[in-house]
Amino acid sequence: MQISEVSAPRPVSASAIEGHVYKVFPSDLNAHYSVFGGLIMSTCDRLALVVAERHSGHSCVTASVDSFHFLAPAKDGDTLIFKAAVNRTFRSSMEIGVKVMAENSYTGEARHIVSAYLTFVALDGAKKPVPVVDVLPETALQKRRYDEAEIRRNSRLETREKLNARRGSDA
Ligand SMILES: CC(C)(COP(=O)(O)OP(=O)(O)OC[C@H]1O[C@@H](n2cnc3c(N)ncnc32)[C@H](O)[C@@H]1OP(=O)(O)O)[C@@H](O)C(=O)NCCC(=O)NCCS
Repeated sequence: MQISEVSAPRPVSASAIEGHVYKVFPSDLNAHYSVFGGLIMSTCDRLALVVAERHSGHSCVTASVDSFHFLAPAKDGDTLIFKAAVNRTFRSSMEIGVKVMAENSYTGEARHIVSAYLTFVALDGAKKPVPVVDVLPETALQKRRYDEAEIRRNSRLETREKLNARRGSDA
């Protein structure tokens, strides 16, 4: 049976990426000699896409990025470790959370450098949004992320409504 035909909620772990590693070289740095943020953003988008497609069993597109926090810089020689997982599913959309650590692989010291939340929409063969199977948060951390994803979605929808109302009254 294909994933897209499964109706029981799928555990977060079934589609998660636990430790995608990327070794930083000098060509990855910006003018401040820290890792170029666009490189990290691109990798997060790519990995989150894989999680969304694994979870839904459909081709998916990035619809929006609700937030992307650069918490600390990464340096030449660091090993970046990416983790990505479904935080919550809605109807056809899914929030995927990505966490990036920068590890000094000689000492084992690791810093949390990025948290990002991206929304993907699953598409059918006609490229129309299609419902996705629910996600099943199992651990306390997964349940917290599940709850927080709804806050981010509500906040995005509320902002969109406010902006639409404002633009409508300006017109
Ligand atoms: C994302 C996209 C498929 C939504 O299509 P649409 O016709 O607006 O779809 P709908 O209004 O029916 O909404 C479908 C879902 O998308 C979500 N969505 C639409 N726009 C969104 C946005 N800007 N941010 C987050 N979610 C969004 C809706 O909330 C809805 O979710 P739900 O089914 O879980 O409730 C469409 O806007 C699109 O193709 N955008 C371009 C995507 C792209 O090229 N990405 C970059 C490369 S992958």
